[in-house]
Amino acid sequence: MRRLLAFTLNGRDRSEAVADNMLLLDFLREQLGLTGTKTGCDGGECGACTVLIDDKPTLSCLTLAATVAGKRVDTIEALGADGQLSAVQRGFHEKLGSQCGYCTPGFIMASAGLLRRNPDPSDEEILEALGSNICRCTGYVKIIEAVAYAAELPAAGASP
Ligand code: FES
Ligand code: FES
Repeated sequence: MRRLLAFTLNGRDRSEAVADNMLLLDFLREQLGLTGTKTGCDGGECGACTVLIDDKPTLSCLTLAATVAGKRVDTIEALGADGQLSAVQRGFHEKLGSQCGYCTPGFIMASAGLLRRNPDPSDEEILEALGSNICRCTGYVKIIEAVAYAAELPAAGASP
């Protein structure tokens, strides 16, 4: 069965037809063309597919699209404005928190969710918030540094 799904995507109200059994990850990438959200393990293990639902980092590979009715969904495409990187994007860029980049959108969205609820996290809190995300390239030291640096940037409170 299909239904009409009304929700807010990256700050804009949307109304889209969606199959009841479609995963949010597939809905975003295949139906809406938002390919910034990555498919990794496809099974809840890697965090590459992380998006924010009502500001909460959520694995889109384990979420039915139909369940976001009436909610706010933010993907990596929501970050940055007017050609400027968001604070977390700047952190990953300037502190070399990304190598191949495949995991990066998931890490950035999990980090943005953390800074929205806790603008001044400790390293332990950053580690805990990113505990569901896996990176095969960087080791995690640079990623922790990137998030801590982002929290210090002036724009972090407004647009993490
Ligand atoms: S693709 Fe969703 S957790 Fe790996
Ligand atoms: S930068 Fe390559 S998997 Fe994380």
